[in-house]
Amino acid sequence: MIVDIKQAVKSFGDVNVLDNITLKINEGDKIAMLGPNGAGKTTLIRAIMGYYRLNGGKIEVDGMDPVFNRTKILKKISFIPQLPPPIKISLNDLIDYICITTGVQKERIIKEAEDMELDVGQNINKPFFKLSGGMKQKFLIAIALARKSELYIFDEPTANLDPKGRENFYHLLKNLDEKSSVIYVTHRLEDLEGLINRLIYLDIGKVTEDKEIKAKS
Ligand SMILES: Nc1ncnc2c1ncn2[C@@H]1O[C@H](COP(=O)(O)OP(=O)(O)O)[C@@H](O)[C@H]1O
Ligand SMILES: [Mg+2]
Repeated sequence: MIVDIKQAVKSFGDVNVLDNITLKINEGDKIAMLGPNGAGKTTLIRAIMGYYRLNGGKIEVDGMDPVFNRTKILKKISFIPQLPPPIKISLNDLIDYICITTGVQKERIIKEAEDMELDVGQNINKPFFKLSGGMKQKFLIAIALARKSELYIFDEPTANLDPKGRENFYHLLKNLDEKSSVIYVTHRLEDLEGLINRLIYLDIGKVTEDKEIKAKS
């Protein structure tokens, strides 16, 4: 899937949080996105997923305007948000809901959770919001990886994870389909060695660097 961003501008008040961003994400691109807090990374991700209407320019996801085709494009995207949503239902109900709405098999979610060393069985009747921060992230990772998507977007997914959790996550990332694209927002570039082919820096709403990274052979 291709994400084509052309001169995208998004402003809040009179500040351009996305300031004329032009960027093409190709099929199979594995991108590390870096930049200081407030650079506009999360805003760019939300714009790609159709949550914001741009003030200028345009974004096409698989040839479609994400705002007007949000349901369609969200079917192709696995997303882990920076902040886990305050979901009140139990893990069990949440898994059922995800299986029904996305067609993912329950066993796959459980398997991915196990690979992340999250004990779903012990916590199956707990409301999601009562999990620890790291456990929430592990669960969201399990859901995202259980789905076969054309684009995976991870917005600082390892911020709350212990070192073992991070290691497990990177290990699982290696199994993603070669053709799927990944946008990986992080402050820890060193962890992504061998997993990315491209590095994009964002600062004050602009792409300040966009370079190829040699894949580790
Ligand atoms: N919904 C919003 N309303 C107003 N300002 C926002 C909103 N979302 C983000 N911003 C502002 O946009 C800037 C970029 O935020 P964000 O995209 O979250 O940065 P990053 O993810 O790179 O840390 C920040 O100054 C933030 O305060
Ligand atoms: Mg952010």
